[in-house]
Amino acid sequence: MERNTLSMIHAFLRRHVQPGALCIDATAGRGRDTALLCALAGTEGRVLAFDIQQCALDQTEALLAAEGLRAELHLDSHAFMANYAAAGSVDCIVFNFGRLPGGDPQIMTRADSSVAAVKTALELLKPGGVMALAIYYGGANGYDERDALLEALRGTDARRYSVLCCDWRNRGGDPPIAVFVWRERSCANSEGGETPAMRKLQFGRSRRMNDHDS
Ligand SMILES: C[S@@+](CC[C@H](N)C(=O)[O-])C[C@H]1O[C@@H](n2cnc3c(N)ncnc32)[C@H](O)[C@@H]1O
Repeated sequence: MERNTLSMIHAFLRRHVQPGALCIDATAGRGRDTALLCALAGTEGRVLAFDIQQCALDQTEALLAAEGLRAELHLDSHAFMANYAAAGSVDCIVFNFGRLPGGDPQIMTRADSSVAAVKTALELLKPGGVMALAIYYGGANGYDERDALLEALRGTDARRYSVLCCDWRNRGGDPPIAVFVWRERSCANSEGGETPAMRKLQFGRSRRMNDHDS
């Protein structure tokens, strides 16, 4: 398999998305990520896909039809995805930033709405859920969106999420960055307090220590 950002992200999706999953493709484009999510989530699963361009959704729909797959396609910005799914309910979310290949070069993802969408997506993930982002930059995309996204991800609460950022050190031409996010299954709450699960664990530990003492 050719080693590139998209193949890394697809390998991650294959590893994590189970039949019956609720998934979101935040940037449908030509539909390749939507199609993979549909195939992995299966007939028991549900896939929502967003794009602000009707021509992108048309291409996604055509690809899905050709592969015998189904998704719920929404002509809307991913910044509003919370209108379509409940907080803590989504198994997997994918972003593929940039522009539609072969589409209008003026229409592309933008720093403000991309950062808002990623922050929303973090809240939509269920504990144990995952997110993958392909960040394109350089050329006409510039660097603002990449920098804003990486800064926002750096500020993510490490007790609730693990964020891995991968760039290609020895490749020229601004290859896209892959980011992988895992929402922790059990963690301290955002104020730094303990969750009931942590308290239970702690209680079990102190009981074992007391048993040992006696
Ligand atoms: C790089 S393409 C996505 C490629 C796609 N994942 C695929 O598999 O073909 C980026 C897409 O994001 C869309 N987009 C731009 N701004 C958006 C927004 N605010 N909300 C949702 N989609 C947006 C563009 O119209 C474009 O189709």
